[in-house]
Amino acid sequence: MTDKQSRIQALIHSIIRYLETRRSNACGVDLTLKKLAGMDLCESRLIDTPPQGTRHDEILKDAIAGIAAPELHEIASCLAASRDDLVWREDNAQFYPPGADLGEGYTKCNLHTLLIGPDACGYHHPDFSLGIFMLGPRTLYRDHDHDAPELYLNLSEKSGWRFKSGEWQDYPAGSLIWNEAGEPHATRVYDQPFISVFVWLENVNSRCNVIHFDDWAEIEKDLAQEKN
Ligand SMILES: [Fe+2]
Repeated sequence: MTDKQSRIQALIHSIIRYLETRRSNACGVDLTLKKLAGMDLCESRLIDTPPQGTRHDEILKDAIAGIAAPELHEIASCLAASRDDLVWREDNAQFYPPGADLGEGYTKCNLHTLLIGPDACGYHHPDFSLGIFMLGPRTLYRDHDHDAPELYLNLSEKSGWRFKSGEWQDYPAGSLIWNEAGEPHATRVYDQPFISVFVWLENVNSRCNVIHFDDWAEIEKDLAQEKN
């Protein structure tokens, strides 16, 4: 195992260890841990992929530096150590139906790396994804749904979420968000970049459907102007 692979493996295991401390906290944690327990995450199965950097590297550094909660320290230090080993990608049209109205903020700055999944830089899995997801400051990730059930582990200090057509609510670092398959959700990002662990438990090749809300323009204007 190369040093690069051992850093990636350490990151994956730091995430699993955190999830183990949060069993039964959100519906998807137990399901995720059950799926992970059925995988062979040994050294010999690690993929050796050339790293791929990102044009958003400065924002990514800020996002990682902003992970301050003591209980997330291990994930934060493993992520900082492996940042340059990972394959960073931006979402592109293949994830969305043609003409999807994602908005300027999302298009301008979204980023992810897949640690487990199809085309991952850690372990291959055909129908399960686990990775790190980042959005730039003051971004609205507009309301959307997908056939993949999804778990988020929020690493950044504060992020706003709404589910279905409900009210916005802020979530702290270390919080878990569970989105059942097909349930609409949206995220808003304040002054600091958003960074999280994300898991898609199945149907990982399903597309995201953007669900129109009349208040997008107003929210995006507020995020651009206000100090949050
Ligand atoms: Fe989602």
